[in-house]
Amino acid sequence: MSTLIIYASKYGATRTCSELLAEQLDEHPDIIDLNHEQPNLDKYNTVIIGGSIYAGKIRKPVAAYIAANLAELKKKRLGLFICGAAERLEAIKEIEGNYPEDLRNIAIAVESFGGLFDFEKMNFFERAIIKKINEKEGFTPELQTERIVLFAQRINEV
Ligand SMILES: Cc1cc2nc3c(=O)[nH]c(=O)nc-3n(C[C@H](O)[C@H](O)[C@H](O)COP(=O)(O)O)c2cc1C
Repeated sequence: MSTLIIYASKYGATRTCSELLAEQLDEHPDIIDLNHEQPNLDKYNTVIIGGSIYAGKIRKPVAAYIAANLAELKKKRLGLFICGAAERLEAIKEIEGNYPEDLRNIAIAVESFGGLFDFEKMNFFERAIIKKINEKEGFTPELQTERIVLFAQRINEV
């Protein structure tokens, strides 16, 4: 049996997190982008799901994949993460709002890995939204690599 990381990313931060996480896992995982492929879970006993957050919502391919594979996912050793720039408390709410309770309850590791802003890739509207949110509440556009390390340790040890 083996390990799978599935993710969906808009500008690449969640892919970067998936790759950093893969480097930390004892068992080398397959990494699949849900934008391109919908994997069959049969050969995996550990499944790690990651998605970035936009306006409070996880990337659609992640939500759709979970909805379509919920029963299968419940039988796996699970890890769940988000990529987002919200502060800690808000990030916890985002995790709760985007990953079903039954999956969160059985997951070995659940975490926000922080986020990155790539202003060059953003369109005009996205840049304007970020500017506005920043003025109001403040985002932390930083990947939290120590959380990735701890997350991997949980998956390796439990
Ligand atoms: C238009 C826009 C809206 C965003 N909304 C949120 C949000 O509601 N909560 C959050 O935590 N991060 C938010 N972010 C930050 C992204 O989640 C963060 O940049 C993340 O690293 C993007 O990952 P990706 O490149 O894998 O898509 C937003 C970013 C943009 C550009």
